[in-house]
Amino acid sequence: MQKTFVFAAVAAFTLAGSAFAQDAAPAGEKPVDPYAQSPANAGATPLADPATFQAFHGKEGLARIANDLVDRSIADPRIKDIFATTDAPRLKRTLAEQFCYVLGGGCVYTGRDMAAVHKDMGVTNRDFNALVENLQWAMDKEGVPFAVQGKLLAKLAPMQRKVVER
Ligand code: HEM
Repeated sequence: MQKTFVFAAVAAFTLAGSAFAQDAAPAGEKPVDPYAQSPANAGATPLADPATFQAFHGKEGLARIANDLVDRSIADPRIKDIFATTDAPRLKRTLAEQFCYVLGGGCVYTGRDMAAVHKDMGVTNRDFNALVENLQWAMDKEGVPFAVQGKLLAKLAPMQRKVVER
């Protein structure tokens, strides 16, 4: 409960901040989606400062976090049905690549676009929060400091509107 609240606060902060400022287009012009322009299609632009990537213990740490996140989510009674037909090894790999990419670790994200991959899954805000809570447990287990966890959550928060459909 507390973890969900913390993420909601991060999300609210991100929404209130500049994250979507670039989405606003003058009347009559097509809105620009900054995430669609990400060279790696990963849903966010990479952090410039390598300190955060290092605090996640680099690629190995992010692989452990992605593995744990997927294992927890597949076993989580709140959301496991959504993962019933998921290719878990692929999801672990692409999530680790995505996290590495957005934290500036220089990885190439080989997965699909966030909106396309989650289309028609019927993910709710409650499902989204459950997955984020699992991510927070995984980051705790890896020993990532709380403040540093917030850096990744802030990168993922704007993706909520692409993943949640109802
Ligand atoms: C910010 C939050 C999220 C991120 C960053 C994220 C990221 C990803 C990535 C990288 C993939 C793999 C893409 C590929 O295979 O090409 C994926 C697939 C998937 N995601 Fe998410 N996801 C998020 C939220 C969620 C939520 C909340 C759910 C459901 C509770 C979910 C369910 C799934 C499932 C079931 C797949 C596998 C699709 C398939 O097997 O084809 N995701 N996600």
